Amino acid sequence: MRSDANIAGPMTEPVPGPRTESVGEGVSRETPPPMDDTPIGHAAQLAVEALGRAGEGLPRPDRTRVMVVANQKGGVGKTTTTVNLAASLALHGARVLVVDLDPQGNASTALGIDHHADVPSIYDVLVDSRPLSEVVQPVPDVEGLFCAPATIDLAGAEIELVSLVARESRLQRAIQAYEQPLDYILIDCPPSLGLLTVNALVAGAEVLIPIQCEYYALEGLGQLLRNVDLVRGHLNPELHVSTILLTMYDGRTRLASQVAEEVRTHFGKEVLRTSIPRSVRISEAPSYGQTVLTYDPGSSGSLSYLEAAREIALRGVGVHYEAQHAHTSSQNNQQHVAEGLQ
Ligand SMILES: Nc1ncnc2c1ncn2[C@@H]1O[C@H](COP(=O)(O)OP(=O)(O)O)[C@@H](O)[C@H]1O
Ligand SMILES: [Mg+2]
Repeated sequence: MRSDANIAGPMTEPVPGPRTESVGEGVSRETPPPMDDTPIGHAAQLAVEALGRAGEGLPRPDRTRVMVVANQKGGVGKTTTTVNLAASLALHGARVLVVDLDPQGNASTALGIDHHADVPSIYDVLVDSRPLSEVVQPVPDVEGLFCAPATIDLAGAEIELVSLVARESRLQRAIQAYEQPLDYILIDCPPSLGLLTVNALVAGAEVLIPIQCEYYALEGLGQLLRNVDLVRGHLNPELHVSTILLTMYDGRTRLASQVAEEVRTHFGKEVLRTSIPRSVRISEAPSYGQTVLTYDPGSSGSLSYLEAAREIALRGVGVHYEAQHAHTSSQNNQQHVAEGLQ
């Protein structure tokens, strides 16, 4: 049993119902939040062990995989996915850089990275051609994880970039000049398709689209896919949608399984077999400057991001992934997909 007595955080419970989350077979995986005397790194290690594959290690890509986490809708789980996947990959042994490309700086906050106005940031990299190495900070508590933070200056970059040379490829150039060895770079995009997102799409080969299992989940997705096609055609021939991740999946609702089924029918193999459950622990973690991996290592949210990371790593080397907790549904309704992709 978990006690909530010591987590008096600012967040409130958004989801009614039982407070115990479970992952398949009715087995509760919820653990108490880390206590002050528990080293966070050790707790996170326990999460990896909880998956029963400790020491197995995951294959590392032979070159840096740059993944652009994009969806011009706000609130679908881009930032949450970026930071938790990045932490998961790092806990699996990879070296990972998170590039925070949203002026809100939510990814920087969630990783516990200082990003007040005077901190050297991705704004300086994009607008003043400052080397990426001068702004990258190590993430506390997670070995192998780094962050290029966003400050509020970035809000002006969308306009400032317009008049600069090579305005679409400034991030790409910065990444190419960065000499530290990295297995993954995850770029957290703002909720728009402006020049910041275009910079991300030019810099990366893979697009990861988080899709929230809610009504209108696919609305506007056609526009994003067209932009990906445009960038591929003109600026970055390697670019493709490699990964779709279903987020905020609530197994108790028929809508969630219906949306999941539609997305799988339409996109097929790009959709990860692992989906991310709606979890209070996931939404609480950022207000403590933590990912769910360190905030509550044994929670369903933590385990599902570790599992998604594993799937991504295996796909990168062409290994077929056997899902443990794939969600299935008999519902199928193509109408929503057709509407969303118009
Ligand atoms: N799996 C989840 N379960 C519960 N809340 C979530 C989950 N994923 C994201 N959230 C919450 O939903 C909100 C939007 O997520 P966020 O990652 O910031 O979206 P985006 O970056 O696309 O705007 C945040 O408050 C976040 O904590
Ligand atoms: Mg965000």
